[in-house]
Amino acid sequence: MDGRVALVTGANKGIGFATAQALLKLGMIVYVGSRDVERGRIAVDTLSSDGTAHLALLDMADENSMLATLAAIDAAHGRLDVLVNNAGIALDGASAVDAVPDVIRRTLDTNVHAPARLIQLAAPLLRKSSAGRVVNVSSGVGSLAFIADPHTPSMGKIYAYSLSKVALNGVTTLFADALRADRIKVNSASPGVVKTDLSHQMGRRLPTEGAEIIVRLATLDDDGPTGGFFDAAGPIAW
Ligand SMILES: NC(=O)c1ccc[n+]([C@@H]2O[C@H](COP(=O)([O-])OP(=O)(O)OC[C@H]3O[C@@H](n4cnc5c(N)ncnc54)[C@H](OP(=O)(O)O)[C@@H]3O)[C@@H](O)[C@H]2O)c1
Repeated sequence: MDGRVALVTGANKGIGFATAQALLKLGMIVYVGSRDVERGRIAVDTLSSDGTAHLALLDMADENSMLATLAAIDAAHGRLDVLVNNAGIALDGASAVDAVPDVIRRTLDTNVHAPARLIQLAAPLLRKSSAGRVVNVSSGVGSLAFIADPHTPSMGKIYAYSLSKVALNGVTTLFADALRADRIKVNSASPGVVKTDLSHQMGRRLPTEGAEIIVRLATLDDDGPTGGFFDAAGPIAW
């Protein structure tokens, strides 16, 4: 993995930070996405003891910041080997009947439309890699099989968040197909319930454990899968 170039969005904390750290330890050059310069600098300072980490001032709500990040990577390396679409939000716990339109819109913008747009913009650089890999960080609640099960508890059926991860899995499927001829692999990862700010520190898994499946999908070899949905135990139902 030495010298491979990776971009991890939302990497100033949580699962994204742990993913960036693991990729650095594999010898990759990692662009650490952060929408806030100070939070990003602190993360990069910490991560620099593990390898070559660069700050990517990247707000998923701002296409210009995506373009600037990709231009910097192009100028320095001429290619991108790994894109981890990790940045995400979970704004409330409202069910389908109570969800507020503005929350639904903001959640879909951040968790679906922005990562899809970033893949579109990064595609020319990913095509220049000999082993382009895209990992979309989804969730178990993005599984239609899981949310269709009447035994699934209501906290697994938060409307805006679940819908966004179901849709993100659609992004994975459609981009995997569109980029298959370029040998770019696109997969969804479910990290499990992880102790982070997003989960209100409720998960039992540590960010490093959540990052494991992301790292595995980011480092697939040429005969690895594309267009799949995986957690630490293997493929999971759509
Ligand atoms: N924790 C879990 O149990 C769990 C389970 C399944 C899936 N996931 C997924 O894992 C991913 C990481 O979540 P996490 O649990 O590590 O949460 P987290 O600790 O809250 O981290 C979320 C990251 O996303 C960033 N972010 C949010 N909106 C952004 C934007 N518009 N532009 C750029 N960055 C943005 C945050 O930046 P700021 O620090 O600036 O807010 C932060 O770096 C998410 O996609 C989440 O849905 C988490």
